[in-house]
Amino acid sequence: MASPPPIHSKRFRKLFSLAAIFLVTMSCCTQFALAARKVSTGAAHDKAMRERYEKWIAEHGRTYKDSAEKARRFQVFKSNAHLIDSYNAAAGPGGKSRPGLTTNNFADLTEAEFNNIYIRRRPRPRPPPIVVGTGFMYGNMGLSDVPASIDWREKGAVTTIKNQGSCGCCWAFSAAVAVEGIHQIRTQKLVSLSVQQLVDCSTGENNRGCNLGDMDEAFRYIVHSGGITTDKAYGYEAQQGTCRSSGKKAAAKIRNFQYVLPGNETALLLAVAHQPVSIALDGSNTAFRFFAGAGIFGADGQQCTTDLNHAVTAVGYGTDENGTKYWLIKNSWGSDWGDNGYVKIARDVASNGGLCGLAMQASYPVA
Ligand SMILES: *[C@@H]1O[C@H](CO)[C@@H](O)[C@H](O)[C@H]1NC(C)=O
Ligand SMILES: *[C@@H]1O[C@H](CO)[C@@H](O)[C@H](O)[C@H]1NC(C)=O
Repeated sequence: MASPPPIHSKRFRKLFSLAAIFLVTMSCCTQFALAARKVSTGAAHDKAMRERYEKWIAEHGRTYKDSAEKARRFQVFKSNAHLIDSYNAAAGPGGKSRPGLTTNNFADLTEAEFNNIYIRRRPRPRPPPIVVGTGFMYGNMGLSDVPASIDWREKGAVTTIKNQGSCGCCWAFSAAVAVEGIHQIRTQKLVSLSVQQLVDCSTGENNRGCNLGDMDEAFRYIVHSGGITTDKAYGYEAQQGTCRSSGKKAAAKIRNFQYVLPGNETALLLAVAHQPVSIALDGSNTAFRFFAGAGIFGADGQQCTTDLNHAVTAVGYGTDENGTKYWLIKNSWGSDWGDNGYVKIARDVASNGGLCGLAMQASYPVA
């Protein structure tokens, strides 16, 4: 699907090209040497790839600063396209067909560049959330107390897909989506909330704007600052600035936040049955980065670790026609990624904290 240029496109592009120059300087030599060795093709094949690239550029509204940069980006695109094509050509474990990958918006970024922008690794381990002990309000329920499936989009509790652009503040998007959800559930009003306010103002110990952060810290900030304003009043800029919340009216308030029992997908389901929930997972693997959107991620052999490096929001769960259980996840990588910005991830298939670690660090606002 063709997507419009990323939000705040001029600024984003400027930032992006600056970041790209910097990163290319750092990492291109080895990347391209590898790519060049791996990809030995005939002229006809190269022509087809070039046409595919031009089509992709047009679809994604991409512009480059000069022809040298474009030539470099073509090599990256080609390498990613080969990776994606060979993944799609191979069957999953047991010969099953598996959900495919596509040359999405990230197709002209190397893996290192992608990780530098979108994936954050913690410099030090974080203490387990249990120490905070805020309680788990859905703990005395059972599976028979909740619906077999839920999609908070259908209930009007989920705003449109956003694009974090070149700012690693997935934590702020994740928290905002969870608060938007509980606010709509309590008030019947769906309001797009200010991610930028969280990026600029929620600067507690772990929260560093575009360079990593935690959703619980963001909730704590919203509790203590008396609420969060709208995206309209305090718009997204994809970079950290000084806090400008003063004088802006709170559009949603929360009383507190809680943690889901860590690593417990039943507990996570009880929470998601009542509201969208912020979760962390491993978003750095190739299959997730280029996920085309059809099918259930992880149901047929996609690999991921439990290294929590990306934040998203669980906005539903269910079971498909073949009996495969899934989580419905809202991402902040634009609507070009996955299933119009969403992904279904296999549910109850991993014992150690959910597939990709998705049940290991879940939290939600209390309103
Ligand atoms: C998981 O959470 C559910 C719901 O709160 C609870 O009944 C169950 O005992 C928990 N399982 C474990 C292993 O802690
Ligand atoms: C269910 O299984 C059938 C047969 O294997 C397949 O054609 C279909 O695509 C599957 N549906 C989903 C939603 O995966």
